[in-house]
Amino acid sequence: MAITGIKGFNDILPGEVEKWQRIEATARRVFENCGFSEIRVPIMEKTELFARSIGDATDIVEKEMYSFVDKGDNRVTLRPEGTAGVIRSFIEQKLHAQDPVAKLYYMGPMFRSERPQKGRYRQFHQIGAEVTGITNPRIDAQILVMLCRFFAELGITEPTLQINSLGCPECRPAYRAALKEYLEMRRESLCDDCRRRIDTNPLRALDCKVIGCGEATAEAPSVLQHLCSGCDEHFASVRRHLDATGTSYSVNHRMVRGLDYYTRTTFELVTGLLGSQSAVAAGGRYDGLIQELGGPKLPGIGFAMGVERVALLLSDEGLARRPDLFIAAHGEAAGDEAFRLMILLQGEGLRVELEYEGKSLKSQMRRADKLGARYTLVLGEDELVSRRGKLKEMASGEQQELPLEPAALARALSCS
Ligand code: HAM
Repeated sequence: MAITGIKGFNDILPGEVEKWQRIEATARRVFENCGFSEIRVPIMEKTELFARSIGDATDIVEKEMYSFVDKGDNRVTLRPEGTAGVIRSFIEQKLHAQDPVAKLYYMGPMFRSERPQKGRYRQFHQIGAEVTGITNPRIDAQILVMLCRFFAELGITEPTLQINSLGCPECRPAYRAALKEYLEMRRESLCDDCRRRIDTNPLRALDCKVIGCGEATAEAPSVLQHLCSGCDEHFASVRRHLDATGTSYSVNHRMVRGLDYYTRTTFELVTGLLGSQSAVAAGGRYDGLIQELGGPKLPGIGFAMGVERVALLLSDEGLARRPDLFIAAHGEAAGDEAFRLMILLQGEGLRVELEYEGKSLKSQMRRADKLGARYTLVLGEDELVSRRGKLKEMASGEQQELPLEPAALARALSCS
């Protein structure tokens, strides 16, 4: 029996991969315009890096990590997200010594052992960006504007931006306590997970998908009412900058995020088009994380998008790769000339194909059709003698006679 792939680990096939290339190229362009440089970090790190940054009491660390003990008895984990590894590298490679302000982006596979469904996979891909060393709320707004611009450039307008502030170590404990008290009074109406969360991670109860929990927490205290003056001003300033740049958003005080490192601004780009997997991109500020991981006291902020989810929203219009030219040949000598011309034209940057196995002319033309070639050129003995051939535009059926010279053919193909 043939060996199959692993559930939740997908192949990305030609036809689909063109979307990914467009998404990646757009991210590189838009992010680099904003001063970001790419960083590539390993896909496997020590388990404790994720436990310490994402948080022991999160779903990711509790249930979803691919962790194992390697041959050297080290506990290692396939990265479930990108921030921890990037910040680990920022600290370990002492990037902060050259410049505390780093603007980094990354793309690549992440791994979470979740139940696979549309938009949710076990190997999935993120494109993310992280900024260190800037406290000013203008960077929060810059990140959000950049993210919205990325989607706009891809022609994806549907997701909406939701923002929140989760406060800081100064004001969050009081909010946590107020929320705990509220949840404690409704313990009976909560699901088992949320009952457990009352002590470990009460904010996550606001995010629970169980209907009873949603009802029980409908009137829960809002984090925004508990912000200290510093966090309140920071959040107001982020909103002001978003307004000033014409960026639409809504405030969602129930958005809590599934990772523990967040402080102050958090955000998600959400869509109604992907069923229950509504977040296409998400992120926030993490002012304590760099220090928590043993680095200097520097703030941070970033986001990551799920490439599979972006691809599901992206239309494939205009993405199909068609050959510019298909050269069909009649006979061995014409086949050799077709091959020579193809190689020369490919060298000119044109997409040129032919049929290798010397099949009938009819079958070669069927292949040209199947590949969607824009032009065809048929070579036979006459063409070899006259050194001229007829270039046919497939859509219109129009033909033009040209010398069988790469330069003339390349000119005709490029002009169209
Ligand atoms: P996250 O919200 O866990 O944040 O993931 C970010 C995005 O990755 C999600 O909005 C979603 O689009 C995608 N994603 C997550 N899990 C899956 C999955 N199983 N299948 C498909 N897509 C998925 C983070 O990972 C943070 N590191 C973001 C961040 C960067 N915050 C600050 N800097």
